[in-house]
Order: sequence, then structure tokens, then C-alpha cells
Amino acid sequence: MNGRARVLVTRRVAPEALAMLRERFDVTHWDSSEPIPRDKFLSAIADTDGLLALLTERVDAELLALAPRLKVVANMAVGYDNVDVDAARARGVQVTNTPGVLTETSAEFAFLLILAVARRLKEAMRWVERGRWTTWDPLLLLGPDLDGAMLGLVGYGRIAAAVARRAHAIGMHLAYHSSHAHPDDEERLGMRRMAFDDLLRESDVVSLHVPLTAATRHLVAERELRLMKPTAYLVNTARGGVLDQQALYAALVGGSIAGAALDVTDPEPLPAEHALLQLDNCLVVPHIASASVATRTRMATLAAENIIAVLTGRPALTPVDARPPAP
Ligand code: DGY
Repeated sequence: MNGRARVLVTRRVAPEALAMLRERFDVTHWDSSEPIPRDKFLSAIADTDGLLALLTERVDAELLALAPRLKVVANMAVGYDNVDVDAARARGVQVTNTPGVLTETSAEFAFLLILAVARRLKEAMRWVERGRWTTWDPLLLLGPDLDGAMLGLVGYGRIAAAVARRAHAIGMHLAYHSSHAHPDDEERLGMRRMAFDDLLRESDVVSLHVPLTAATRHLVAERELRLMKPTAYLVNTARGGVLDQQALYAALVGGSIAGAALDVTDPEPLPAEHALLQLDNCLVVPHIASASVATRTRMATLAAENIIAVLTGRPALTPVDARPPAP
């Protein structure tokens, strides 16, 4: 051993981040676009000081117990439900995430899904692809206007706030449900803070922005979907587990809501034969809300900066335990 600390990077990521790490550390790199197999991950962690992990890796008590040298887990995501933060803390391992750098990109995509699901984009594309576009039809594929419609934000972290700004710009009315009040945004955007059930009852579009925790698992299930308007749409860019997908399927087929757009599913990946994918009114994409070149690069370099900071004896830039989780 040459005295340099060892860093494990579990996926092919932006080369800028790898270069930063290689300059200072011995880097073991799972250089693939597929996740590192669990057995390889468990054996590689043994002599690792710093870990750059993705949301696809389970960083749990089993793994941490095999990592006596580990000092930092830099999760390349703002969400960190894949990391057992308490187990890490108990072993003195610093966990970090990537807040702030993906806010606008993710909000832009959530907003895209709001527009796309309300204006029936999937159904319209299928219509053309199936050769059904025979004429301009005044009654074909009609949807609601979003100008004047109400957007209900469940959770109000950075990304939800950035979605709110975009929705305000096109004339949507806004409501949010959060444990914290945001009086400045209420004032600036004419936004109302509402009880969860009221928000579900009154919104034309409900967009989910809470982290996945024990408390938020299946936060939206059969009861909540029944509260929504039959004309309402649901958008999930948070985590798949926040939504009960079986209940969603029943709601979409039974007409208790009008449509859904999911950037995140449970499980991920969603099998290609999944029933939700057969529905015209359910649009599913593969967890890409933060997928711009600049943002994915910045997420990787921020994760690298966190590893460098901790392994050179400085405080992490974005430690997860210094503040409450906010998506
Ligand atoms: C996150 O950061 O948590 C997203 O889900 C991926 O960008």
C-alpha cells in the first residue's frame, strides 16, 4: 500500500469527477452503465476509505460492517433513502448528498411532466404512431387548460419551490402541503398552505416532492387517490415508494383520477411488461429528472468534492445530517 486513501466509485460517471479523485486517491472504478453487483460491492468495500455511490446502491448496515476504513459515503443524488444514515453515523461515517445543484433541472422536468400528462402527450404520440391521425379533429385529444388550474405540491423543498415558480409563470394557482410554512413564497406566488386531504381534494394537478422515509412510504395510496378529482393528474418525481402503484393502477383504470406521470417507480427499473405501461393515461420515464449534462456532471463533482473534503480532514460540503432531508 502506498499511503494514498482508497476510493470506490460504483458507476461510470462524469470523467471530471473521476479525474479529481484520481489526482489524490487510489480509485477503484466500476466502469459500467450497469450497477455494481452486490457481491462485488461487498468485497470491494473492505479496504475503501471513501465511497461515491448512486441511488441504486444499498448502503446498509451489512455493507458498513464490512468497511472498517470507510469515512465518507458521497451519494450522487439529493435523495438518500438508499443509505442507512443512522448505521453510518454509528460507525462515524459521514454521509453526503447533492442538494442545490440539481434543483432547476429537476423542476424543469417535473414541470414538463405536468404539461405532458395534462395535454395527453403519450396518448397523442401513440395516436400518430398507430396510424390513427386521419384528419384535424376539433374534438380530438382534448385536455384541460393549465392556466387557471390549481397545482398542489406535496412537500415543499427546493425542487417544489422551483416547480411553483414555473407553474406561477403560466398562470396556475398554487397550494402546498408541508410541515414548514413558507410565507415569502405564499406571498410572492399567491400560494396557499393546505392540509394534505384538502390539497388532494382541490388540486387539478398533484405533484409529489417528499423524500422517501418510513413515514412517507405509500403516502399516496387508495384513500388519497379517491380524494382527488376524477379530472386530476398526479405527477411523481420524488421516489417511487411514496406512491402505492397498485392503487394508482386501479385509480387510472377506474377513472378516479385522469392520469399520472412518473419519473420514479417502485421497483426501478419498472419491468417493460408492467400494467401501468399499457395505459394511455400513464406516462413513465426512467428516473431522468436531473438528467442534463451539466447537472449530472455537477452532481458527480460535488460528490467528489465531498469525498476530498472528508478524506483531507475538512468538513463535508453537503453533509446529510446537518439539516432535515429536503428533496
Ligand atoms: C435525486 O437526486 O435524488 C434524484 O432522484 C436523481 O437526481
